Formats: sequence, C-alpha cells, structure tokens
Amino acid sequence: NPAAQVEFTPEQQRVQASVQALWHPQTIPDPYPAYAALRDLNPPGVLPVPEWGMTFVTSHAVNSAVLRSPLARSGAIISQMPGDTQATRLLQPMMLFHNGPSHARLRGLVQAAFTPRVVEAQRELVQAVLNDLLDALPTDRDVDLVAGLAAPLPARVIMRMLGLRGDDEAKFMRWTQSVADLLGGAEGNPELLARIEADASEMRAYFRDLADELRADPQPGLLSAMAAAQDGGERLSSDELLSNAVLLLAAGHETTSNLIPGGLLELARQPQAWAALVSRPDHPNVADELLRVVSPVQLDGRTLAGDLTTTGADGQPITLPAGTHVQTLLAAANRDPGVFPDPDRIDWDRPNSARHLAFAAGAHYCLGASLARLEIAEVYAALARRFPNLTVTDPTPPFKANLVLRGPQELKVRLNG
Ligand code: HEM
Repeated sequence: NPAAQVEFTPEQQRVQASVQALWHPQTIPDPYPAYAALRDLNPPGVLPVPEWGMTFVTSHAVNSAVLRSPLARSGAIISQMPGDTQATRLLQPMMLFHNGPSHARLRGLVQAAFTPRVVEAQRELVQAVLNDLLDALPTDRDVDLVAGLAAPLPARVIMRMLGLRGDDEAKFMRWTQSVADLLGGAEGNPELLARIEADASEMRAYFRDLADELRADPQPGLLSAMAAAQDGGERLSSDELLSNAVLLLAAGHETTSNLIPGGLLELARQPQAWAALVSRPDHPNVADELLRVVSPVQLDGRTLAGDLTTTGADGQPITLPAGTHVQTLLAAANRDPGVFPDPDRIDWDRPNSARHLAFAAGAHYCLGASLARLEIAEVYAALARRFPNLTVTDPTPPFKANLVLRGPQELKVRLNG
C-alpha cells in the first residue's frame, strides 16, 4: 500500500544508518568512535530514529535526566514478548521491568536481604575465591583470563551469597548465559530461543523447589533471607522470589565478568595507567574509573509516560514527547567530553569518575553496585600487586555478539609478562 509508506529525510536516514552501525560485528569490539560520530551528528545528543520508533541519547545530561525522571518507565521488552512462554514467565516478576509502587515493593523486599553490611561481609569471601582462582593459573605462558578468572569469580561469589550449591556451577553459568542472551535480543534466532526456553523452564523449577525447601528450613544466605523478608506483612510470592533470585545470579555475573577483561584491554592500550595502578593498587577510584571507561551495560531503555523537557548537550532546552522509546547510550554518556575531559583516557585521579552512568541512575540504579565495586577493586588490586608485569598478549580478542552486555569472549594474557 503506497499510501502507508513514510518518507524519511536524508538526515533521518543518516542517523538511522549510524545507529545501526553500532550493531555491526566489527563495531562491537570498539564502539567508541561510532558513539563519537553519533555525538557529532547531533550536538544536543538526541537522535530520533522514526522508522524504529526509538530515540537514541548520547549526552550525559539527557541520559541522566531520562533515567532519573518519574516519567521514565521500564519494561517495554516484556510487553513485546509472547505472553505464555517460560522465558516471559521468568522475566516478568523481575524488579527490573516494574515501575512505581510494584517496583518499590519488589526492590524493597530484595534490598532488605542485600544490605551494605551483608555486602561488606563478603570481602573475605571475594578475596578467598580470587586467590584460589589466581593460584591455579600458570604464570609463564598464555592464559585466558575470562575462563580462568573473570567468568567464575562473580558467579562463585553470588552463588555462595545466595547459598547455592557449588556442584551446580556449570549449570548456573549456562543459565545466566541464557538470561543474558534473552536480554541482549534473541529474537529471530529460533535455535537460541529454544535453548533459552528450555533453560528458563529448568531455572524456574530449580529455584521454586529450593525456595520451598528454604521456607520450610531456613539456611544461611541471601535466598533464605529473601524468602523471609517482609514489608508491611507482605512477602515475595514463589514466582517473585525465584525470578529475582535468577536476576541476582545473572546481573551479578554477565556484568562484572565483562568489566574485568574489558578494563585490562583498555589498560593494555594505556600502559601509563597500568603503571600508576601498580604503584597504588588500592587507589579508591579504580572501580569507578574502570566502570566509566568500560560500561559493561552499554545501553538501557525507557519509555516516557509524559513529555520530558530537559537541557541538551548544547545547553538548549529539548523536549522528548510522551511515548518516546528512549535508548540511553550509557557508554556514550560515560565518555561525554563535556563532563569527562579527554574521556578515553584512564585517569585514576579524575575528580568525577563516580558520575558515570554505568549502574544507570534513578529508581533502577544497580542494586548490586556496592558488591560490584568491591569485586572490581579487589580483582584489580590483586592483579596489580601479584602480577605487575601482566601483558595482554592478544590485544584484539573476539567479542561476544552482544552490544548491550558487551565483553570479550576470551582474553589471552601472560601474568608474569
Ligand atoms: C540493575 C549495571 C553488577 C544486581 C542494573 C542496571 C545497570 C546495572 C545499568 C540498571 C538496569 C535498568 O535500569 O534497566 C551493573 C554493572 C555491574 C552490575 C555495570 C557490574 C560491573 C551487579 C551485581 C548485582 C546486580 C553484582 C547483584 C548481585 C542488579 C539488580 C538490578 C540491577 C538486582 C535491578 C535493579 C532495579 O531494577 O531496581 N545494574 N550491575 N548488578 N543490577 Fe546491576
């Protein structure tokens, strides 16, 4: 029907092609020139792509305003998923996709178990898991630091925190991979969708049984604490408990495990920053500066429930209309030169690294941020202390085909240089 065809201006077509380029397999290993090109294309940092019904945001100010706005709604991804699949049933009760009072309730009940004291008490656990892993690695030949350290460390820590059995580790790793694939966009890949569906079904059954057992016979660990948590006499239902336990397992894994090798790759290109770290391994800014330059969650999404007026990167007022699907390019915001001068450079003494949006902002600000910071600081301090001559032997490793949860598939290093 030719009447229904919409003409796009050359400007709109240019923006769309530039945004689309972000997903090219050649772009994922280094998307930063592409973000910079998008920024130059539109100085306010707001790029509508009408054909997709989405607006991409590069500026720190606009990203921050969107994420903090009460008009910004999460969960569009759920409404687009087929209703009656195991995958949808697994995702739907996760706090990540809720808004307003229902989000506050779910988050409050989980947060009651995930207190700062509980997190700080994990430092010894993190150090013990880290030292076990590092002790097992050969130091005089190439070793894959993703398989040897970055993947198992956060997984083991969150598994032990939740109170899960160590002999199920391989299964948990496969499951969290499925959750990451689902969130990274599996549509159009029937084989992957079938694997995700089978894993979602297994996950739901496993955690439901475990939660029932723990309600009857509480054990140490977060899962029992979540099962017991109450808010005004309210508790998490079985579905809510199992889905949010899976969320913690996946969120605590596919992010930190990408940051560890991602940061080493950046440092391989900036040897002076590695030398500065070796001379001060416990610099208090290490985790935040790495989070800023790596952005393990490269983009996030919100739908606006009303018109949002804010200030663009050019200082002019800008209005995003109600209904806009905003793609917040967190990674672009974290290298916004207006906020972080010389943004690609790692500078441990940067005064405002912690203004990064790697953990998002507003209502959904990462619930695990303090655990992630603790893990990152411990890993980098241990590497710098124990292996000051660490060398990345393959500086262009293959990357996972996932722009949202971006990270290298493997990272070959030689620990003793
Ligand atoms: C939410 C990033 C580690 C648990 C988020 C969000 C981001 C993020 C960007 C917001 C998602 C959204 O708004 O749609 C990261 C990064 C991490 C990390 C970069 C590590 C480098 C962790 C860890 C845990 C965790 C270790 C827990 C064990 C969560 C949870 C949410 C969340 C439960 C949902 C919060 C809510 O919806 O209210 N994280 N995360 N994350 N994160 Fe993290």
